[in-house]
Amino acid sequence: MSQRVLTTESGAPVADNQNSATAGAGGPLLIQDQHLLEKLARFNRERIPERVVHARGSGAYGYFEVTDDVTGWTRADFLSEVGRRTETFVRFSTVADSLGGADAVRDPRGFAVKFYTDEGNYDLVGNNTPVFFVKDPVKFPDFIHSQKRDPFTGRQEPDNVWDFWAHSPEATHQVTWLMGDRGIPASYRHMNGYGSHTYQWTNAEGEAFFVKYHFKTNQGVRSLDAGRAAELVGQDAASHQTDLLQAIERGVNPSWTLHVQVMPAAEAAEYRFNPFDVTKVWPHADHPLHRVGRLVLDRNPDNVFAEVEQAAFSPNNFVPGIGPSPDKMLQGRLFAYADAQRYRLGINHTQLPVNAPKAPVVDNYGRDGLHATRYGARHDRNYEPNSYAGPAQTGAPLAAPLAVRGWTGTHEAPAHTKDDDFFQAGELYRLMSADERDRLITNIASGLSQVTRDDVIEKNLAHFHAADPEYGKRVAEAVRALRED
Ligand code: HEM
Repeated sequence: MSQRVLTTESGAPVADNQNSATAGAGGPLLIQDQHLLEKLARFNRERIPERVVHARGSGAYGYFEVTDDVTGWTRADFLSEVGRRTETFVRFSTVADSLGGADAVRDPRGFAVKFYTDEGNYDLVGNNTPVFFVKDPVKFPDFIHSQKRDPFTGRQEPDNVWDFWAHSPEATHQVTWLMGDRGIPASYRHMNGYGSHTYQWTNAEGEAFFVKYHFKTNQGVRSLDAGRAAELVGQDAASHQTDLLQAIERGVNPSWTLHVQVMPAAEAAEYRFNPFDVTKVWPHADHPLHRVGRLVLDRNPDNVFAEVEQAAFSPNNFVPGIGPSPDKMLQGRLFAYADAQRYRLGINHTQLPVNAPKAPVVDNYGRDGLHATRYGARHDRNYEPNSYAGPAQTGAPLAAPLAVRGWTGTHEAPAHTKDDDFFQAGELYRLMSADERDRLITNIASGLSQVTRDDVIEKNLAHFHAADPEYGKRVAEAVRALRED
């Protein structure tokens, strides 16, 4: 093989990559040493802002294949035919820690899927949990501040974590989930993914349905207990990354089966709890799972920074036949992601290879900005309407319109007959085996017992008690025992 030549950024051959240029053998450096200056300057600029949440993650490419007919519910083209395959890119992540954090920690996991469809990219940006901690986006920055490192101590503080939850009864369901066995997945391959929010599907006749997405892992759900996880963090902080990378390199391609729960739009108003409340699941007895297809990951990225760090998923990247529901959290997210990416990656992040749509037509009047690489042909106009056959609107909304009524203002969501914040946490607790309940109580108590204020502990205990009196009593006893030690 012939020797490859090292060059500067502008392509000139480099004579010496071991010694900087100096004025004489023992003298100071020369400013004319373009290679040295360029190398140091580039190195200083290697980092970009990390994601404000979900900073640490792993990604892989693959495909989605439709296995079942869902055309009665959606006109999405990529779901229109059994056997249809669509290229995908998936990024998994932890939430709270920074880029250098460890993988095997108790934390939700992100499960973000980009479908490169012929009608544009569809991003389904979910988690490995079917529910979330809060139900209004105005609470999200406070919630995340309470879970990330404290500005003074520089550590994650049990006082902050549990103080926020003490004031957020709606978090009880997700806290119960997180402190249970599934709170530390064995790897990204061994966990399910959920859209978590309710989304809207619209069929070819214009009928609207509300759906929840469930990706069930075909590797089986496997989790780590707190002791094993702590050991693993010490052995390989990047354990999830190692597992995913090596499995795909070995050709052991992980896969998930996608199911949806479907609710005809007209049912939503009368459902017994708010079906757009992301702190609640829809019981399968009300809305069974319908299989849709298979997600397979079969290719590792060549470059983690270019393809994983620069990947940009946004919950408002929809395609015809799919749209948002009125879930307030989801609505907040429709703004937050692309805004974060304009800051983190710049206005033209949609032109980076991992984010660029693979649809045959991507044509609009957006122009210029830092690092623009996509532009029109030589005589294309950059305004609309125009007399030059430029791209024009279709007049066909992606999803059916939804009726609204009432007054503007800061409202709580409309009341349904059974909206309370605790009953599903209680149901989850009672669903757990005796062993899992033991571990749940131990996990909660080991965190809650570190809280320094009694009133914060009491408020949290009241939430567990409201979910199930036995649950509350057992946590109270375990916390007391640890605090008396
Ligand atoms: C109002 C509530 C929320 C807000 C404002 C919010 C905001 C954000 C922001 C700003 C990012 C970083 C995006 C980037 O820099 O590329 C992010 C990442 C992420 N969020 Fe949220 N988030 C919210 C709730 C949720 C919920 C409920 C879920 C799951 C159902 C979720 C899943 C994710 C995932 C998976 C990522 C990482 C995406 C990736 O891999 O690049 N978030 N979120």
